[in-house]
Amino acid sequence: MSSYDLLVFGATRNTGLLVAELAVGRGESVAAMVRQGSDASALESLGVTVIRGDAFSLDDCIHVVQQTKPRRAVSLMGSKDQNGRRICAIGNIHVAEALSGSEGLERFLLLTSMGCGDQYAGTSDMVKKFLGEALRAKTRAEDYLRATELPWTIVRPGGLLDSPSTGRFHLSEQPDRSRKGYLSRGDVALAVLQVLDDPAWLYRIATVQNIERQEEN
Ligand SMILES: NC(=O)c1ccc[n+]([C@@H]2O[C@H](COP(=O)([O-])OP(=O)(O)OC[C@H]3O[C@@H](n4cnc5c(N)ncnc54)[C@H](OP(=O)(O)O)[C@@H]3O)[C@@H](O)[C@H]2O)c1
Repeated sequence: MSSYDLLVFGATRNTGLLVAELAVGRGESVAAMVRQGSDASALESLGVTVIRGDAFSLDDCIHVVQQTKPRRAVSLMGSKDQNGRRICAIGNIHVAEALSGSEGLERFLLLTSMGCGDQYAGTSDMVKKFLGEALRAKTRAEDYLRATELPWTIVRPGGLLDSPSTGRFHLSEQPDRSRKGYLSRGDVALAVLQVLDDPAWLYRIATVQNIERQEEN
């Protein structure tokens, strides 16, 4: 029997916080794993259950999964720790490993980035120079997840903005280069919750982009 509708990794701020807020607004029970010392006040004021843990620790991830028994889980973790260790690969692999022992899990959605996996070859040299390490780390997590027996979905967003959400976004398997490269975090959060519950995206990778097309010169 599942206890929480949604468990979020990477929910303290930005896109993850918006996902948690939207899910709470829909009446879902939401839990989040948050590092010791990180500010969880926004989550707590939403009524999200906060369990302390660091995704560099597999034991922490297992503990949180056991405590919450989630029906669905989302991981949006990114960036590096104080020692420069990137969470994108190992943290998300730990989350997937922890969820593998979880009964009642209907879906695990991993948010990575446009340019991961098969899209890497098509990215510009500039993107590879500045984001290559992150894209390769996220790709490692994608590859691990796809080899598991978890009910997975991967979402690859374009560049993220703090602009207001529009409620409109473009979902496809391959990037549409005619569309604008950046979109609002709010629209990505909406896309995450839509894809999470859509059986059509099970075992598939969704690229989420701005619905607007780039202006022609
Ligand atoms: N910026 C872009 O244009 C862009 C484009 C495509 C994809 N992305 C990816 O999209 C995702 C969301 O990005 P965002 O900018 O909205 O959010 P973000 O600011 O990157 O937030 C990252 C979240 O991960 C958590 N986290 C980091 N290390 C952790 C650890 N060891 N254990 C547990 N939690 C940890 C952070 O918690 P703390 O509060 O503890 O730090 C935070 O809640 C990221 O994976 C990012 O790489 C970003």
